[in-house]
Amino acid sequence: MSATFHQTTVQRCPVHEGAEPSRLGAAVSGGTAPGESREAPVADWVTLDALHRDPFPLYRRLREEAPVHWIPALNRYLVTSYAACHAIEQDEATFSADERESLMKRAMGHSMLRKDNPEHQRDRDSYGKTLRPATIKKHWNGIFEQNYVDCLRRLKKAGPGADFVWDFAAPYAAENLRLVMGFQNATEADMQRWSQTMIDGTGNYADDPDIWAKSERSSAEVDAAIDEMLPYFKDHPDHSLLSGLASLPIPLEAIRANMKMTIGGGLNEPRDVLATTVWALLREPEQLEAVVADPSLHTAAFEESVRWVAPIGMYPRQVARDTVLEGIRLRRGDRVGVAIGAANRDPAVFEDPESFDIMRPKKPHLAFGGGVHFCAGTWVARAQVAQIAMPRIFDDLPGLRLDESSPAVAGGWVFRGMLEMPVAWD
Ligand code: HEM
Repeated sequence: MSATFHQTTVQRCPVHEGAEPSRLGAAVSGGTAPGESREAPVADWVTLDALHRDPFPLYRRLREEAPVHWIPALNRYLVTSYAACHAIEQDEATFSADERESLMKRAMGHSMLRKDNPEHQRDRDSYGKTLRPATIKKHWNGIFEQNYVDCLRRLKKAGPGADFVWDFAAPYAAENLRLVMGFQNATEADMQRWSQTMIDGTGNYADDPDIWAKSERSSAEVDAAIDEMLPYFKDHPDHSLLSGLASLPIPLEAIRANMKMTIGGGLNEPRDVLATTVWALLREPEQLEAVVADPSLHTAAFEESVRWVAPIGMYPRQVARDTVLEGIRLRRGDRVGVAIGAANRDPAVFEDPESFDIMRPKKPHLAFGGGVHFCAGTWVARAQVAQIAMPRIFDDLPGLRLDESSPAVAGGWVFRGMLEMPVAWD
């Protein structure tokens, strides 16, 4: 698996979509008295390249200036303070998930992620108990363990040196998702290809026909795989998402869109949090020693990792009615990027926010979103990463270390994770 695969992934994702400016923020900056409101300052110094390389210094500067900016390079407002991101998540009536001219809808169909209630809730309920903690404990954990063993065996065969992201984290996350979703007629490689090509479609602002062709081919393959599995599961039910959907009166169009969104959104994030956490611990020997001595700390390491580098760093919303957000005026139709990757490092909430510290006092981060679209796969991610893989990996790969001769590279801001992570072990 090449780094280019991931490079594209981190820049284009189903939660990030392009926008024409509905309104330009004013180049007005400065404080506001309580009760007053002002136009969003313009941050024309923010570039896509700089965001991709390392968004955190930019977020720091933005947050210090104002909670919301107009970013010409993005053609949208960017919200970077914790309070403002949290306020958006709690107010679905003002901040709609149903963006107009959504490329995600073109690439994947109209999924629950781009619906407001009550339509959203019908789709969300259709996922039933598959992704809930009790089902995971009873059913999926054993399967994740087996996948872990199989993926580790393949990694060891490739070793004693390999790329941790592409030779382990990606196939492990893809195989777990394949089984949770019920794609018995596909491979983990199909899952990775489907995910990547449809994600590329959601970011195809240049309208590149080649990208559309690949995305449409994957979309058709997913449709065919669903069409084959739904009748099968009517007679052979199991605990997977498709099995649950097979017996529900949900329109096929909604099933297809939700499945495609889940393929696009449920693979990269567990992969990225797994690699980022291992990377962070390898760079912090004292914290690594602590988790090895007390494996119950892996839960804290997971939560700290998604706070520190939110695998989904930004997702879009559209303003449904004129409003004032943390003192900044927004108007109906404005498009907003909710930068939870920035909110998670807001010093107003987290002390010394730029450091990775698994011992920091527990405070709620926003890495899984909030409100009605709160991540449906949170417990699946926690189980496969914090409960299954992390507590075993340092014992199973003794002497696991970053390859000094070929430094690891992180990238992305909409999706952020390790692009390359060469490791070695004894
Ligand atoms: C560390 C791993 C993960 C992170 C950080 C993450 C993050 C997120 C975020 C931020 C959202 C909300 C986006 C928005 O409001 O626009 C979301 C939604 C969603 N996620 Fe995850 N996710 C992860 C893993 C997963 C997994 C493994 C699955 C599937 C098995 C999954 C399925 C979903 C679904 C279906 C939604 C849409 C929920 C809705 O619209 O009601 N996620 N995720």
